[in-house]
Amino acid sequence: MCGIIGYSGHRPAVPVIMEGLRRLEYRGYDSSGVCFVRNRELQVIRAEGKLNNLEDKLADMDISLATAGLGHTRWATHGAPTENNAHPHVSFTRNLAIVHNGIIENYREWKDFLLDKGYLFFSETDTEVLANLIADEQAGGLSLLRAFAAALEKASGTYAVALLSTEEPDTIYAARHSAPLLIGAGAGEHFAASDIPAFLPYTRDVVFLEDGEIARITPLRAEVFSMADLKPVPKTLTRIEWDLQAAQKGGYKHFMLKEIFEQPRVVADCIAGRADTKRNAVRMPELEGFPVPSRLRIAACGTSWHAGLWAQSLMEGWSGIPTTVETASEFRYRNALPVPGECLLVISQSGETADTLAALRLVKEQGIATLGICNVIGSSIAREADAVVLTQAGPEISVASTKAMTAQMTVLMLTALYWGRKRGSLDREITARALAELSDIPARLTGLLPTLESEAAGLAARFAACKSMFFLGRGQSFPLALEGALKVKELSYIHAEGYASGEMKHGPIALIDPCFPSFFLMPYDAHFAKTMSNLEEVAARKGPVVALTNPPKDGMELRVGESWLLPEAWGPLCAFFMLPALQLFSYKAAAFLGKDVDQPRNLAKSVTVE
Ligand code: G6P
Repeated sequence: MCGIIGYSGHRPAVPVIMEGLRRLEYRGYDSSGVCFVRNRELQVIRAEGKLNNLEDKLADMDISLATAGLGHTRWATHGAPTENNAHPHVSFTRNLAIVHNGIIENYREWKDFLLDKGYLFFSETDTEVLANLIADEQAGGLSLLRAFAAALEKASGTYAVALLSTEEPDTIYAARHSAPLLIGAGAGEHFAASDIPAFLPYTRDVVFLEDGEIARITPLRAEVFSMADLKPVPKTLTRIEWDLQAAQKGGYKHFMLKEIFEQPRVVADCIAGRADTKRNAVRMPELEGFPVPSRLRIAACGTSWHAGLWAQSLMEGWSGIPTTVETASEFRYRNALPVPGECLLVISQSGETADTLAALRLVKEQGIATLGICNVIGSSIAREADAVVLTQAGPEISVASTKAMTAQMTVLMLTALYWGRKRGSLDREITARALAELSDIPARLTGLLPTLESEAAGLAARFAACKSMFFLGRGQSFPLALEGALKVKELSYIHAEGYASGEMKHGPIALIDPCFPSFFLMPYDAHFAKTMSNLEEVAARKGPVVALTNPPKDGMELRVGESWLLPEAWGPLCAFFMLPALQLFSYKAAAFLGKDVDQPRNLAKSVTVE
């Protein structure tokens, strides 16, 4: 989704802003723009496409004197991704410009109101309406701060918005409602941005803005006001511990590859302090005061939903808690009946996904306990859930989620063990085995990844020309099949479907022909023999088959087709090898086809609209 950066300080603003926009590129965008004040005039430069186009336009301009400004990467919602619709948007009547992430749902109503008053519009965006609404409030005699607040009170929908005006050329105003925006507090400079990496080279001190708050930043001060009465709101600084290194490619060709290779460390970080193998105990201090639910609902989107599906059988099998898993976008619209004692668990890498956040808020209103599993400290979900378990995956920059899912699976597994022990529904032996095997995963995966990478490259080169492919699995391999197909779609734009192996014969098998390969996820678990039958059904219809399975043993081996052998792992832990194999296959297919791996077309990292 759109990226915002605002700067007010002692440095030339435009290079700082451009650098910040580069670090927000991962969010996905199709146009960009900057604005600043020069010689008391508002300068707005915008360009379609990638940031290089904007840089080309700025190359001939004198930008050295501006020490405050705004930058934006736009992921189109209202209006095509043209230069005209790119942000910043200006109200020429008051020489003010805004950048915006989100959707102003009632913008048509206010556009008609402003058109009647003679305001002119040059774009199709909801953002330009908001800019003119602020100007209209100023025309009514309000100060810039009051006009900003009054206009936002009239806007419904979601927004993170930052404002610059020639009237206060060193000041940036910023506000948010259900979209991320935070303040970076440096020495003699302040930032407003959608995400921390945008300003991390300059400061690690962050102020998290809440919905209904307005920030005013100048080089020397960051003040926060309540939007309702404009009274100052005291805020605390949070120190960010991770450094820029964590948000850079570190020698890898793409962020995605780097993030896949970070997974052993991610598992190690997620279990550190939680998995106590010596005492055969799971420590989850975040859950200590949180009641063990009698029923669990999991709601999430995309890859995080797949992690939830994967965890369902652990929550039921180990914790003994009846569990349902849904996409957050459906959950929120189906009038789910609350049940006393239940808990809604929302899973989100970003902690800002609009549908997941909406599901959380809906259930909170019903008085149901909420738990978040989240990767971004200070994100909306991390702050609003009754309890939150943070996944220690570090910043995930590539749009396609990889290490976040591994972190979610680790934390979900620990949670299932923790609740299982608390409820007395879990054997000590299973806990001991699970913790011991999980602790071995980082070392085993580190050794495995280079082999997987070269095997994935070979397979991807052979199958990248296919128009369609299936990913099939049973039990806990089914969500991984969904994830494997999602990754292929996202990255290489090849049509891929994830299916439950047993469902194949109920329709999808009609698609099978010699150009339609099927990847069967079939580790040596209780489902192996049944999935083998499904594989044979496909092979009999001349569909190419590849089985992601384990080396032959005890009479268990592939009877037909080709195999991609992964080391055997205990119980659910085979997912920690299967998932990276699938990630690497999709990565290699996309790289082979020359696709934009880290920023696939049409996708956004953090989807803050519904
Ligand atoms: C977007 C991303 C996906 C991600 C999904 C949920 O669609 O492109 O990679 O899985 O959002 O994001 P979340 O931050 O809530 O996990």
